[in-house]
Amino acid sequence: MERLFEPLAIRGLEIKNRICMPPMVCYGWVGDDGLAVEKNVEHYRAAARGGAGLIIQEATCVTKEGRICRDQLGIWEEEQIPGLCRITEAVHREGCPIIVQIHHAGVVGGTTQHAYCPSDFRCVKNGEEKTGYEMSLEEIRQIQDAYIQAGRRAYEAGYDGVELHGCHQYLMCQFFNRRVNRRSDEYGREPERFALEILRGIRALTPKSFIIGIRLGTFEPALADGIAHAKALEEAGIDFLDISYGFQGMDEPEKPEDFPYRDVIYGAAEIKKQVHVPVFAVYGIQSPQMAEDILMRTGVDMVDIGRGILVNQNWAQDAQAGRDTGRCLDCKTCMWRVNPDKCAGRVLLNRRREG
Ligand SMILES: Cc1cc2nc3c(=O)[nH]c(=O)nc-3n(C[C@H](O)[C@H](O)[C@H](O)COP(=O)(O)O)c2cc1C
Ligand code: SF4
Repeated sequence: MERLFEPLAIRGLEIKNRICMPPMVCYGWVGDDGLAVEKNVEHYRAAARGGAGLIIQEATCVTKEGRICRDQLGIWEEEQIPGLCRITEAVHREGCPIIVQIHHAGVVGGTTQHAYCPSDFRCVKNGEEKTGYEMSLEEIRQIQDAYIQAGRRAYEAGYDGVELHGCHQYLMCQFFNRRVNRRSDEYGREPERFALEILRGIRALTPKSFIIGIRLGTFEPALADGIAHAKALEEAGIDFLDISYGFQGMDEPEKPEDFPYRDVIYGAAEIKKQVHVPVFAVYGIQSPQMAEDILMRTGVDMVDIGRGILVNQNWAQDAQAGRDTGRCLDCKTCMWRVNPDKCAGRVLLNRRREG
């Protein structure tokens, strides 16, 4: 596990190992006001205590209307800062840095009719029909400003940085993907423009040490597009690229037959060959051995251990000590979306430990 426990620095921030807890919304914990509650604080405190090198807090919304659901954490107003401060203080006290993922759902959010989208667009998400309409230039500016103010609030709340949510079908992803973004103006001709202007806006309001990364789609719609977006972001000064899926259903995933891991990890490896900034890989990284092999084989800089850390918040410490980390059982519906107490991987690990 030599590589997994090697430190890494991002924009001068010391990260003690290559294990990142990626953003994962805890559904049902927060009220309609988007204010952080004690459960959020304890959840991230436990993950920090469990030894992850970096935590990226769940998708936290930049406007009330842009939420995925009514119980999502918010960073759209000043009143939300004190609750977020409680999370950053708890995590920092455990010696772990924390970045917050800032998010707007666009057409696939809780607003089902006439939601924001780069172009007129219809789709079905979780069985629900969604219609989006083409944003005016004025609306684009307003939403960019909401991201920029959210970046400023994140700094004031004590986060080490922000991760722009630029994948998984949400608004920024919709701008990146030319099958969704069919605009004829500069935001269509240059699909990175929406994100780049936000990046520059947050930089202008935060100190030099504040990290700005992005979660970016690898097949957006093709790998060549993901690479082009990554290079444009690097040129504009992004601090890391956390590579995941893009607008699924509009994408063209690919990987060579002999590549042993997910196509999205292959995509991260290909992007890493083209950029110098740190690249994170994600999906189905089930064991410390797999994590180490991915780091060594692909050259990526960090691995995201998502559901693995939901199963076992001490995943990193257990990996380092050579103990059983447990594993995610890849359930058809992850119970963390419904009732975390019923997480099958966690139940199994606890049973093994008790017996
Ligand atoms: C309950 C749950 C919530 C999630 N919420 C987010 C989120 O807020 N932002 C995001 O970018 N990805 C989100 N994801 C995706 C994870 O960050 C991660 O990419 C995915 O679970 C695959 O990694 P894993 O196999 O290590 O779990 C979520 C996943 C789960 C299971
Ligand atoms: S509920 Fe299932 S899919 Fe979700 S983290 Fe637990 S074991 Fe993994």
